[in-house]
Amino acid sequence: MCGIVAYVGPQQATPIILKGLRRLEYRGYDSAGIALIEDSGLNIYKKKGKVADLEDHIKGTNPKSNIGIGHTRWATHGEPNDINAHPHYSASKGLAMIHNGIIENYASIKQDLQNKGYEFTSDTDSEVFIYFIEDILKNNQCELEEAVRLALNKVVGAYAIVIMSEEDPTTLIAARKGSPLVVGIGKDEFFLASDATPIIEYTNEVVYLNDQEMAIIKDNDFSIRTTQDIEMTPYIQTLDMELEAIEKGGYEHFMLKEIFEQPRSIGDCMRGRLNASSGHLVLGGINEYAKKLDAAERIVIVACGTSWHAGLVAEYFFEEFCRIPVEVEYASEFRYRNPVIKEGDVLIAISQSGETADTLAAIELAKSKGAIIFGVCNVVGSSIARSSHEGAYTHAGPEIGVASTKAFTAQLTVLFMIALRLAHRKGTITEQKYREMLVEMEQIPAKVEKALKLNDKVEHIADLFKDARNFLYLGRGYNFPVALEGALKLKEISYIHAEGYPAAEMKHGPIALIDEEMPVVFIATRDSSYDKVVSNIQEVRARKGEVIAVVTEGDSLIPKMAEYVIEVPPTHEALMPLVSVIPLQLLSYHIAVMRGCNVDQPRNLAKSVTVE
Ligand code: G6P
Repeated sequence: MCGIVAYVGPQQATPIILKGLRRLEYRGYDSAGIALIEDSGLNIYKKKGKVADLEDHIKGTNPKSNIGIGHTRWATHGEPNDINAHPHYSASKGLAMIHNGIIENYASIKQDLQNKGYEFTSDTDSEVFIYFIEDILKNNQCELEEAVRLALNKVVGAYAIVIMSEEDPTTLIAARKGSPLVVGIGKDEFFLASDATPIIEYTNEVVYLNDQEMAIIKDNDFSIRTTQDIEMTPYIQTLDMELEAIEKGGYEHFMLKEIFEQPRSIGDCMRGRLNASSGHLVLGGINEYAKKLDAAERIVIVACGTSWHAGLVAEYFFEEFCRIPVEVEYASEFRYRNPVIKEGDVLIAISQSGETADTLAAIELAKSKGAIIFGVCNVVGSSIARSSHEGAYTHAGPEIGVASTKAFTAQLTVLFMIALRLAHRKGTITEQKYREMLVEMEQIPAKVEKALKLNDKVEHIADLFKDARNFLYLGRGYNFPVALEGALKLKEISYIHAEGYPAAEMKHGPIALIDEEMPVVFIATRDSSYDKVVSNIQEVRARKGEVIAVVTEGDSLIPKMAEYVIEVPPTHEALMPLVSVIPLQLLSYHIAVMRGCNVDQPRNLAKSVTVE
């Protein structure tokens, strides 16, 4: 949530920051701004709307500066408008700050400052933060970094901040707690950003700040101190990311590119880990704690959004193959309900971004009770990856479209590999079954490729249903979470109300909604619940609902009862979600495009939710 970019060095800061903000726009896009030190002093340009609106705003001005900070916002405190946009000035206008996060005790700090006579211009907690820093600076007559450090010890909440001062055009002070921040180290230049995507075209040397750390960039020098004033040695990592991975590569939208990347991303996820002919299945990140996983009496999975849906699918296959009870929890509920966790319990945290605040807090809570944490993350070096004991990356590559697609299928792939390996180690499946499942896994990228060939057909169905006001998605067993995911995709990007339900549960409520205006998407592939789903289709048809059915190739029964049938290749039912979700992703994509929606940046959403 909220994207941060900053630059100091010999180049012009404005184009670097604007380009960086465009790369980070997936994090929030209700307003954007930039602060620069020009010949005329410290100037802030900011605008409600997208980064493109900010660019229009400064077009013609051509501001010149070798230092700058930029921000793209996802509003928490104060509506999205020009005034609440970041950066914010301090009271004297001598300092400027960008902030990602929430300062929970801002109201009492604001009151104290108002009592001292300060007047605020915005409704944000962030403006209070920079006023507070300046007040400390004045009262203590100290260096800026010390004033920032003292302020950080007084605020409660989450933050990634970058501050610059008119008096010192070679200095950037940054800090993080709960919100991500990466420092890029170039030749005589430094970059700061919420993730590495704005940095990689300039340098691949980065340092990920840890919580409670401050980065002090001063006179072409860089150091890290904790908020407790302890000097740290920066751990410089070399990034392994290609520029093309974060560009659209000829597709109209990132979402479509990412949907079509899935044969490759699922393959990448298995590469070097799984080999069906030799029976090899190794997850290098699950090593020291593998025995704890073997011995687990239960597994708790925590996640949010699409990642939670991946967890629900995992529940089915962990229980089926490993015979271990699994609970899947919304991280936001888990963390606040005093959950029963005992020493040795295993918690799997699933997160594309690795930064979701609730998931991170759930991990910390479970850890404090003695649980072993396995992280399943896409973003390398992310907070969740670092706070887990062990884990496995999904290796899906950067996912930029706000609606998650390739990250979901990569999560399923990793989780399935974890389950299969565990089942094999525990002996809860036969050697033959294990081998069969490895072979099935290896065939998934080709089957997904085939499912993608349905694009034209799905586009045609999308055209017929683009004006629907509601949608129902129904599935059973492994396809029940797929129904939830299909409905979520549609509502996220097309703003059509959609609900996902277990097909049988439909009778206990949603059936009341069914009439000739209600499209019902059934995920009705050939599996152990097939006959039951067929009955559920009949129940919808009897009430004149229009049925769109995702079926297994060669199905001869359902096409007789459903108006629209989408045939996907067969696979084992536990792996079917990897294939059956593909037409649902495409359906939501095409409907959203036809309705004129911004599919990559749907309203009100953000990709990385770093506030609770
Ligand atoms: C946001 C995103 C979703 C994502 C969810 C969880 O809501 O818009 O696409 O599924 O966060 O994010 P995570 O990064 O933890 O998977």
